[in-house]
Amino acid sequence: MTISRTRPLTVDATRLLDGFERLRAVGATEAGGVSRPAFSSADLRARELVAGFMRRAGLSVTVDEAANLIGTAPARDPRLPALVLGSHLDTVPDGGAYDGACGVIAAVEVARTLRDHDRLLDRPLRVVAFSNEEGIPGAPAMFGSRAVAGRLDPAELDLALPSGARLAELLDAAGGDSAHVERARWTPGSVDSYFELHIEQGPVLDAGGPRIGVVEGISGRLTVEVTVRGRADHGGTTPMHARRDALVAAAQVVLAVRRLAGCHGPVRVATTGDCAVAPGAWNVVPGEATLTVDLRDLSAAAVERGLRRLIGDCAEIARTTGTRIEVTPLQHVPPTPCDPAQQRVIEDVADGLGLPRVTLPSGAGHDAQWIAGLAPTGMIFIPSRGGVSHSPREWTEPGDLVNGANTLLGCALVKGANP
Ligand code: GLV
Ligand code: MN
Ligand code: MN
Repeated sequence: MTISRTRPLTVDATRLLDGFERLRAVGATEAGGVSRPAFSSADLRARELVAGFMRRAGLSVTVDEAANLIGTAPARDPRLPALVLGSHLDTVPDGGAYDGACGVIAAVEVARTLRDHDRLLDRPLRVVAFSNEEGIPGAPAMFGSRAVAGRLDPAELDLALPSGARLAELLDAAGGDSAHVERARWTPGSVDSYFELHIEQGPVLDAGGPRIGVVEGISGRLTVEVTVRGRADHGGTTPMHARRDALVAAAQVVLAVRRLAGCHGPVRVATTGDCAVAPGAWNVVPGEATLTVDLRDLSAAAVERGLRRLIGDCAEIARTTGTRIEVTPLQHVPPTPCDPAQQRVIEDVADGLGLPRVTLPSGAGHDAQWIAGLAPTGMIFIPSRGGVSHSPREWTEPGDLVNGANTLLGCALVKGANP
């Protein structure tokens, strides 16, 4: 008896890695990472580069009103709801080369592989680089994916950013249309399913064994601004007992945030990631300190408990330090389960490729969280060395990038067909 095995279609690994290296060079930092904050000149150059990759992959390229870069492949039936593959090109300041970028480059390579092999899908394949996934100072994250999901507050466009620019100006300079951003919304039913390939940004896959992570759900997150108002005074003459030092109070808030997570805290992780001090001079007792806090958990109730505890802790710190503390929730991204059927597709494809897999949650946020409100959504993780991300030390083995792209390709073949 002969057993016939058909070799699955695979991506061109050399071309995939070459595209990745060319993208990595845009905004490359001396530390070996990438700094490509949304709407920066490096981000705009990266978008140009990837638009060129998309055209070479046979995609017709558009930029929507929310500055999402979209490449669409021809289909057997262009009227069918689309299969969407995407991620983002922007990075945190001084970030790594992989977060977001690998999902976009792999999606373009999937489209190019399909075209090279004359594999026209039944439904249109749409490759999307969502704009401003990471957020920039003064403006909330995941702008592009929220826009297509109809979850954008147009008032955001008028935000005056610390840089002095308005978000609307940055959007327009990136090819968006701030006056008509609501038109970026995808009509319900226009998307059949969504897949996002991403690095894990955590330690599970790197611990050995599985090469592919099948994401079961994405942590919710709440961004909170904490403003501490004390009193600015002379740093040389004001007696210690007479001070209302906003930064000393803010330091206590930072420790209170730390206690929100861990064995006795309500949330899985809690971070104070930013602190601005005014007036910010070495000889002035700080009069005001503004902290940005990020709370995350797979349970929305846990995040809510974290916020309530933070408000209580801040009231107590304000009382004992003679300051006023305001706690303002800025952006709430709800926890998102991934679609079970999409998870099964990823599992079957990984099994077919002989790639060991594991099911795991995502601690990081992703555009997929918003697309999940529009269509069944699945996320594929590949290992991050040391679990490190949002850092120049971010690293994923080339072989894992190729594995991820092949898994994405397999998923596209399954879900691109109209059963
Ligand atoms: C997105 O990068 C996040 O902060 O989770
Ligand atoms: Mn990120
Ligand atoms: Mn990302």
